[in-house]
Amino acid sequence: MQHIKRLFDIHPWKIATTSISHEDHRLQESLTSIGNGYMGMRGNYEEGYSGDTHQGTYIAGVWFPDKTRVGWWKNGYPEYFGKVINAVNFIAVDIEINGEKVDLAKMEPKDFYLELDMQTGVLTRRYTVEINGVLSTLEFTRFLSLATKELSVQKINVKTDKPANIKLTSKLDGNVHNLDANYDEQFWIEKSVGNTPFPYITSETLPNNFGVEQFSVTAMAKTTTSPEVNSITSTEKLACKEVFVFENETEVTLFKNTVIITSRDVAEENHVAAAEEILLPSVEKGFEALLAEQIDEWAKRWEMADVTISGDDSAQQGIRFNLFQLFATYYGEDERLNIGPKGFTGEKYGGATYWDTEAYAVPLYLALTDTSVTRNLLKYRHNQLPQAQHNARQQGLKGALYPMVTFTGVECHNEWEITFEEIHRNGAIPYAIYNYTNYTGDTSYVENEGLEVLVEVARFWACRVHFSKRAGKYMIHGVTGPNEYENNINNNWYTNTIASWVLRYTSEMLEKFPREDLGVTADEVKKWQDIVDNMYYPKDEELGVFVQHDTFLDKDLMSVSQLDPSNLPLNQNWSWDKILRSCFIKQADVLQGIYFFGNEYTIEEKKKNFDFYEPMTVHESSLSPSIHAILAAELGMEEKAVEMYERTARLDLDNYNNDTDDGLHITSMTGSWLAIVQGFAQMKTWNETLSFAPFKPKTWNSYAFHINYRGRLLAIEVTDKVTVTLKQGAALEIELYGEKVLVENSFCVKTK
Ligand code: BGC
Repeated sequence: MQHIKRLFDIHPWKIATTSISHEDHRLQESLTSIGNGYMGMRGNYEEGYSGDTHQGTYIAGVWFPDKTRVGWWKNGYPEYFGKVINAVNFIAVDIEINGEKVDLAKMEPKDFYLELDMQTGVLTRRYTVEINGVLSTLEFTRFLSLATKELSVQKINVKTDKPANIKLTSKLDGNVHNLDANYDEQFWIEKSVGNTPFPYITSETLPNNFGVEQFSVTAMAKTTTSPEVNSITSTEKLACKEVFVFENETEVTLFKNTVIITSRDVAEENHVAAAEEILLPSVEKGFEALLAEQIDEWAKRWEMADVTISGDDSAQQGIRFNLFQLFATYYGEDERLNIGPKGFTGEKYGGATYWDTEAYAVPLYLALTDTSVTRNLLKYRHNQLPQAQHNARQQGLKGALYPMVTFTGVECHNEWEITFEEIHRNGAIPYAIYNYTNYTGDTSYVENEGLEVLVEVARFWACRVHFSKRAGKYMIHGVTGPNEYENNINNNWYTNTIASWVLRYTSEMLEKFPREDLGVTADEVKKWQDIVDNMYYPKDEELGVFVQHDTFLDKDLMSVSQLDPSNLPLNQNWSWDKILRSCFIKQADVLQGIYFFGNEYTIEEKKKNFDFYEPMTVHESSLSPSIHAILAAELGMEEKAVEMYERTARLDLDNYNNDTDDGLHITSMTGSWLAIVQGFAQMKTWNETLSFAPFKPKTWNSYAFHINYRGRLLAIEVTDKVTVTLKQGAALEIELYGEKVLVENSFCVKTK
């Protein structure tokens, strides 16, 4: 392990600390992010912080096309880089005590306590500071409501040891910047700022030349205080303020409810009225009732999804943190949305959609939420089919090319070799259709929208391959595989494999569910079959491995353990040139294919490939360890599986890759669940059969989880026995350690 930085205490349900961590303030902010699927924010301080901070508030689906800046323009480049944009900072409340502004960057607090309660999604912070001889204790509580998605709820309490003058300034501040803007400009312009009926600000994204929708967002806040005092409101450019002054008080409390409305849902002229309609009832309900609703809503999610681990609180905290942050980012309510690799916690990969969703998130959402959630993720891609066709045309190709990075379906990332050449993503989208159909048994999606996507993607692959007359084989040149540490390679085994699988699966589905309206000709299908039959898959018979790409074996092959650890992580210590030439692998590549198509390879093939590739893998993509944990578990390499689990489960909590200060690795967070359920418990859904072959990590007493499967809710508990309990739905035949068993109530066998 290269690096561990643990800022928070180990606790099964809480992310809590008594240290303020000035040096790692951004990391602390990332780890205390909250969200409700509609919006989210980093753990920024309400009262402001003049030290190193990354102020970040993000609203789902609100983004900006930032003009691409490249010196040597090439045909086919996307014109803009799409990014999630920092939205109005609506949690801000400046606090002055006897004329001095509270700012923890300049004051040393006593009894500092910061807590994110994962059971309820409530963030609290309290501390005591001495200001001009007055001891003041401040407590902040906030949450983003699951019950009312547009609503943010805050409570701030200030207590002093003697009467003091306390001034609270509640702000809606639209003067925000993106850290990652290409041209450093602000992406918002003011539309209107006012204070009737309550303080509000409406801002609009800058006009752009790319035909991309402009978004307007209104934030409207109602603040109440106890004791009640009159407030004075004022407005300035892109901001409004409401000031409360208390004289000679020893305790004051401010409640701030904020509603965010966007032009995604409501026409701009109706924003203020729409905000008021939600805000007033929320104020009437009051903080305690809103909190009770919040607790209730999170409890429902946990009831379905919680994974319990007894005997290892650090592992327990890791998996819960990941599930919490995933559900705070996406819970499937809106089919226009997807799961950004950083969710609402940072800007680097923004709120854009990557292949991460189909490859890593779909299996988790299939098992832990209603099937409609995954269906929404699939529909998202179906809705973007015309844009995917546009992407293919832009490269001079037929069919549909789904983007590597997108908000609308149009590719919006500007790195050619990495993102553009990663056409393998055009296999993950069909794979998710297969996954949904195979897992749920529901063929209605593939028969309808699914086949429309499959056929167009198949047409892309049939056009993108070429026939090598010399080898008498079809090949795919000029790609980047999942391993981004090699670019522009030929015959990436994974890409060739998934391309030919798409052609095969599409033909099979068309045969089962004929669709004349799609105009697929007999010649087309024949051509697809010819490609499937004659695809080139690099393989080394002597080593018994599938070769990552044509020239991989000519590299200077060595294992990561031969490197001095000071070289790691490579992406922070080596030049790009050195990385590209090296044999070191960023993330599962050949092994990703073996994981996806696990029922097509023998255990011996899996073992040879794992033993060959894993030692060269640096796991510098957070997506990497989970796939290795799953395969290691299947191969009986329990220690390796646990090592990989730990790496994925606590990737952010322990900042393994030394980059969590930028934001959390949201899409990788599915990895810890995958490692437990598909890894340790060996859950598989091959050949229409649900099967398990669990082992229990030595240091754990037990673990347990639930899954939704074809109308049933099953509970699986692994101690020295495996117990499968049918909680809801009809009896089901499953396989346990290769034996068929009928689960009617509860079934129990000894672990093997
Ligand atoms: C990984 C990609 C991934 C992206 C977003 C990159 O570091 O290599 O596979 O899609 O991050 O998570």
